[in-house]
Amino acid sequence: MAIERTLSIIKPDGVEKNVIGKIIERFESNGLRPIALRMVHLSRREAEGFYAVHRERGFFNDLVEFMTRGPVVLMALEGENAVLRNREIMGATDPAKADAGTLRKDFASNIEENTVHGSDSVENAGIEINYFFGDVQVFGRG
Ligand code: RTP
Ligand code: MG
Repeated sequence: MAIERTLSIIKPDGVEKNVIGKIIERFESNGLRPIALRMVHLSRREAEGFYAVHRERGFFNDLVEFMTRGPVVLMALEGENAVLRNREIMGATDPAKADAGTLRKDFASNIEENTVHGSDSVENAGIEINYFFGDVQVFGRG
């Protein structure tokens, strides 16, 4: 296995539900270490750029509205197999289909307001971490 990095976002619904600490605790107790972290209210342009792969999807406008309705927590996480590990901790996109014990099963409201984002590949993780943390210090702990 390899030490990887991945981008995590606690989405506006996660911040509103006051579960920032519980979510970070889930990562830390499952071998994923925050190596960069900040809270930000995304602009429309930032959210559209981040989710640009979904631009043609029917849910794109709703997704951008949702992601910009309040602050989010951006984190780069590091650990063994971090990309897949994070996706396992998050659970399925639709919380109704998410396994017991996953973040989305425990905290998400529906397929859109699903509390957390996680990179879906090592390549995209690099792009996404650079998107939000490209110009600031990242504290890798290997
Ligand atoms: P994410 O990128 O946020 O980690 O989520 P994901 O990989 O599990 O799902 P993805 O297919 O990349 O979708 C991105 C986000 O768009 C919203 N969505 N809404 N209304 C819908 O049918 C629908 N489908 C997706 C969700 O917020 C999803 O996480
Ligand atoms: Mg995705």
